[in-house]
Amino acid sequence: MTIPPTIASTPWGQAPEGPVTRFTLTNASGNTVAILSYGAIVQSVKIDGKEMTLGFDSLEGYLGVNPGYGATIGRYANRIGGAAFTLNGTRYEVDANEGKNQLHGGTEGFNSRVWDAEPFSRDTEAGVTLRLVSQDGDMGYPGELRVRVTYTWSDDNALRIDYAATTDQDTVVNLTNHTYFKLGEAETVLDYILQVDADRFIPVNDEQIPTGEILPVTETPFDFRSPKRVGEDIDADHPQVQAAGGFDHSLAISHYDGSLREVALVMDPHSGNQLRCWTTEPAVQVFTTNFPTGKYKMRGDAPTPRYGGICLETQHFPDSPNHDAFPTTVLKVGETFNSTTIFRFE
Ligand code: GLA
Repeated sequence: MTIPPTIASTPWGQAPEGPVTRFTLTNASGNTVAILSYGAIVQSVKIDGKEMTLGFDSLEGYLGVNPGYGATIGRYANRIGGAAFTLNGTRYEVDANEGKNQLHGGTEGFNSRVWDAEPFSRDTEAGVTLRLVSQDGDMGYPGELRVRVTYTWSDDNALRIDYAATTDQDTVVNLTNHTYFKLGEAETVLDYILQVDADRFIPVNDEQIPTGEILPVTETPFDFRSPKRVGEDIDADHPQVQAAGGFDHSLAISHYDGSLREVALVMDPHSGNQLRCWTTEPAVQVFTTNFPTGKYKMRGDAPTPRYGGICLETQHFPDSPNHDAFPTTVLKVGETFNSTTIFRFE
């Protein structure tokens, strides 16, 4: 007998912009995903009752200082060097929130907005569609952007994220999800085995802004084409990992063609849990939670350990608006931006 998926909506506190709802999606196996209308955040993924993400159990945590746990990041995920770019001959200055650069859409990125949310269910899946209107000039970006993020949780423990956006003036868009995965009880992800189908990576300068090069991963710590322990090269004598204090780099998917492809696998040898990732995006920012232990808090008011989670931020390359050689992030009037990422728990 199949048990239909269920959705529970719960009022989840008050953000500065308005009330927040949490949607708990439960599949036929009884596994759950919880989505917030605040930041279109993945607040929790529970498999066999075990939490698979870093985050908080109340809204206050997300309203306070946190490293984007579970959040939808936009209008431009990752960094824009000098917090400026030129589009159609006009220079746009966007909100600088990391020194003179912009990180993750600026001070009031999409992760801190209250989205309109609408749950839905079909035979073997349940989901939530979230909508946001980002005004012309929002954080400095041109054009009114209408964004839609749809989360679908299916009976095979796959969380599918579909993004769509349209604009009324040419603009730039780079959307991602910033979930920190933690697949078991181990304090860090150092023993996890990671595989990423990426043959090149994007080196960055000391402000984590791309130098403009796209380099082969061969004989670098970034070569995850064969399964490799996350901790193996995390403190390698390589200037890129030394500067970032670990992995915090955009890995370019091999033979990228925009189709939905399996690109990454993370396996926790201690719990036996694994996570498989598919995306239509050209890159995955692999981030190993390099912050010093205790810089941020997480569930239970516990200090977030260094290397306590791993993010697979599927997206375009950082700072693409300033690099003509990178795949374009320009969204033109009349076009629709579409992208899909799937995280399946196994
Ligand atoms: C991304 C960045 C990191 C860090 C986190 C926190 O992964 O590349 O440097 O800022 O986000 O949001």
